[in-house]
Amino acid sequence: MYVQSLELNNFRNYDNLNIGFEKGTNILYGNNAQGKTNIMESIYLCSTSKSHRGIKDRDMIKFGCDESHIKITVVKNNVPVRIDMHLKKNRAKGIAVNGIPIKKVNELFGILNVVFFSPEDLAIIKNGPAERRRFIDLELCQLDKVYVFNIMNYNKIVNQRNKLLKDLNYYYDKDLYNTLDVWDIQLADYGSKIITRRTQFIDEINEIIYGIHRNITNGKEDIMIKYEPNIVGNNLYDQLCHNREKDIKYKTTSVGPHRDDISFYNKEVDIRRYGSQGQQRTAALSLKLSEIELVKNIIKDMPVLLLDDVLSELDSNRQRHLLSSLHNVQTIITCTGLDEFVQNRFNIDSIFKVVEGTVERSNNE
Ligand SMILES: Nc1ncnc2c1ncn2[C@@H]1O[C@H](COP(=O)(O)OP(=O)(O)O)[C@@H](O)[C@H]1O
Ligand SMILES: [Mg+2]
Repeated sequence: MYVQSLELNNFRNYDNLNIGFEKGTNILYGNNAQGKTNIMESIYLCSTSKSHRGIKDRDMIKFGCDESHIKITVVKNNVPVRIDMHLKKNRAKGIAVNGIPIKKVNELFGILNVVFFSPEDLAIIKNGPAERRRFIDLELCQLDKVYVFNIMNYNKIVNQRNKLLKDLNYYYDKDLYNTLDVWDIQLADYGSKIITRRTQFIDEINEIIYGIHRNITNGKEDIMIKYEPNIVGNNLYDQLCHNREKDIKYKTTSVGPHRDDISFYNKEVDIRRYGSQGQQRTAALSLKLSEIELVKNIIKDMPVLLLDDVLSELDSNRQRHLLSSLHNVQTIITCTGLDEFVQNRFNIDSIFKVVEGTVERSNNE
């Protein structure tokens, strides 16, 4: 699939933008704070309904305006699909697919698949578990609607259970205590499904990442990802029951997949803890490349790759690996300068210069 065109109205620092992309490699270059990431964000938004920066809708609307429109045309199997987004200041956004409004946001998932890669992703190995869980969840939400359903319900129930724990901590009441069981049964049900799907996801990534990582490191390093579910044994319900008193004391749910983690091993060494910064970055790069491959295997099509300011963070060897492994993938790259492309003779299909919320196409040669 590829993004054929993008139209922005009062989105971030754009009044009106109309841009057509090529199927291959597209470069958006310009100084800082000109609006490059804003374009990437709008594309990501059409894929996931959310900003990759975790920003609220109202903050993406152009300052001083009340609403904002994004129109994107994605071509899938030669068929164009239009996604319209209408961001509103104080209300939920409106989304339409081919002009027909959708009722639930999960109807949007899977229409446009993107893999987003930014400098923050390079830190995924050394950052905290929350970011690694976010990685798994964002990916699975794009790929698996059942997972979306399970994780949304799970998170809702964790919040409700935590509220109950707080109430019980404040004032213990036997009848109220007995209602805990209702939450624990549901939590165990959704939680187990999440654990099963995450286990499968990590297995799938492992099958792909090993070869990619060997390749990037010229056969010098291995990689293996281990899923670290936050339960002992496999009975989540028992664990929840077992921890009830403690959970009331600390007013929070101490076990369950909302506390899961994944670890990365090079042979027997935990790269999270003992890897050099270079090794951690390479592992992150391998992970992203595996993500593309995995999405491809599942959707039987190529996702769109968004590389936001990430090339300048990689040394030329890693850059080369990244760019040379992209075959038949539409790639949109932002950067401040074009030097590295010219030097490395990468194949570029279109170049755009971004200046203060305007985009101008320049000649390739
Ligand atoms: N809601 C908004 N309305 C208008 N301008 C905005 C809004 N949000 C961010 N901006 C502007 O967008 C610019 C940053 O854009 P960004 O895409 O992050 O830049 P970069 O080119 O460095 O990636 C800044 O000039 C900022 O003031
Ligand atoms: Mg940027």
